[in-house]
Amino acid sequence: MKVKFTNLYKLAPNKKKIFSRIKNLIANSNFIGGPEVINFENSFKKYTGSKFCITVANGTDALEIAVNSLNLKKGGEIIVPVNTWISTAEAVVNNGYKLVFCDISLDDYTIDLEDLKKKINKNTSAIIVVHLYGNPVRMNKIKQIIKNKNIKIIEDCAQAHGSKIKNKHVGTFGDIGTFSFFPGKNLGAFGDGGGIITNSKKIADYCFRARAHGALLKYDHKFSGRNSRLDSLQCAILNIKLKKYKNVIKKRSKFAKIYFNELKKIKTIYTFKRFKNNIYSYHQFVIRVNDRNRLKKYLYENGIETMIHYPYMLNELKFFKYKKKLKNSFKLGDKLLSLPISEEHKISEIKYIIKTIKNYYN
Ligand SMILES: Cc1ncc(COP(=O)(O)O)c(C=O)c1O
Repeated sequence: MKVKFTNLYKLAPNKKKIFSRIKNLIANSNFIGGPEVINFENSFKKYTGSKFCITVANGTDALEIAVNSLNLKKGGEIIVPVNTWISTAEAVVNNGYKLVFCDISLDDYTIDLEDLKKKINKNTSAIIVVHLYGNPVRMNKIKQIIKNKNIKIIEDCAQAHGSKIKNKHVGTFGDIGTFSFFPGKNLGAFGDGGGIITNSKKIADYCFRARAHGALLKYDHKFSGRNSRLDSLQCAILNIKLKKYKNVIKKRSKFAKIYFNELKKIKTIYTFKRFKNNIYSYHQFVIRVNDRNRLKKYLYENGIETMIHYPYMLNELKFFKYKKKLKNSFKLGDKLLSLPISEEHKISEIKYIIKTIKNYYN
């Protein structure tokens, strides 16, 4: 059997409907702005339970605009977990703030609360938490840690569409939340895409302008922004996909349950800890093993594609010039392995992956 990590073609449901919508947009020369964009922003803010949604060109821009929107003091420090996609750190550096890396918890790979406490000082302006793999960060604990301190929270939800804590969507706990709609994401467009959510009108007003050269209307520039609009075609696709997104979470949760039940029988595999009252988007199903490269090769030889998120921690990238060692994440990139989990997989494929892993350890 051959199991792809993801099959982007199969991930696009309802292709007829999508083609017909695209045809319509082309017929009306409606490429930038318009009803598809407004509808998606309205639907996504409703879906996440936030007051405002601002679509942007990608998840990286979403983070950069989010950091900028908070008006942080010049030269302030922003804390970022080391196990994440590089954009989270770029948003800090590209805005001229000081990047401070924080360790991650080996329970669920999100920011480590003990190290976070150590990293906070009088220069700390903000923390970017990452709901990595769709695992919700313990937001209430984070809020307790920064209580009475002037520290802002940005939530990177690029991998966490639909992840919730006590029924509250991630991205709504801090000051601002950011999303990616990159094709491989749980809610993916047919190209790059991103979004920002916030409950603050002031922040939203800034973001709406920042994504369009500082203007809301033509020639109404109030400051120097950028071009980071999400186009109508992408929004049309996202509108169609969002309507059925509940099924995506359902399917991924079903596969995750099978993985958890079966893999717990293998003592050398660590899956990850889940917390009560959370809903997980299961963007990635990541296991931790000491013999990762050998297992990855064995799975590949048996037709199973896997990936690594991520092969190194960001503090290991030399150009970030971060010298301090972090305990939990040290050489973690050699042990992580992401198993296929997406709604287009079949139960038989998930069972085949488990059987192959069991064969390997036998
Ligand atoms: C955690 C995280 N943050 C930010 C991004 C950036 O999103 P984009 O690729 O849409 O710019 C990604 C995308 O991979 C991500 O996984």
